[in-house]
Amino acid sequence: MSTSQRTRPLSLVSLLTLSLLAAPSSGQADEALERTRKQLRMLDDLYKTAVVLITTHYINGAADLPSASAAMALFDAMKEKGWHEVRLFDVTGNPLVARNIAKDAFEEKAVDELRAGKAYYEQIEERDGARYLRAATPIPVLLEKCTMCHPGYQRRKAGEAIGALSYTMLIE
Ligand code: HEC
Repeated sequence: MSTSQRTRPLSLVSLLTLSLLAAPSSGQADEALERTRKQLRMLDDLYKTAVVLITTHYINGAADLPSASAAMALFDAMKEKGWHEVRLFDVTGNPLVARNIAKDAFEEKAVDELRAGKAYYEQIEERDGARYLRAATPIPVLLEKCTMCHPGYQRRKAGEAIGALSYTMLIE
């Protein structure tokens, strides 16, 4: 090796390589976000499938335990056990129970997005040094039976969002 090669300053390419090696955390963070998004999609399928099954097989009249109440009890249990947070809320502007409306800026924005026809809305939030994925997914009038207790849903177009699930999940 000649002296000139040994004393050559770091090339731009090696500087770029070094900076990439020195910042593996950004790559890891994105992998964590992807994992969290995938888990959220799985949970969303699980919860919605469960609600449809419960409504189909266990609800026969307006006096039966509403699917929403069963879902809310399940969501409370998941939160209590230290998993994620999920909330069911209205996007029509006319909920059966007044407290089931968007409760913060994220959910208010989600209502606008879902009403405009979006199938998914998300934001990343930082709290106490940790990152959280907040995401909302739409709920259409899934079954004719839903209108038994929610007569307002009869006016809705097929596939139109009448409610939403909003998730808050730690990105880890
Ligand atoms: C047996 C009656 C009943 C049926 C059937 C029913 N719901 Fe509900 N739903 C309720 C009640 C009561 C609440 C309020 C529960 C609470 O806040 O404790 C509710 C709440 C909701 C909410 C939250 C907003 C609001 O209006 O308070 C959504 C969204 C919702 N239901 C969607 C559905 C869908 C979709 C179906 C069909 C899969 C369905 N419901 C079937 C009774 C029913």
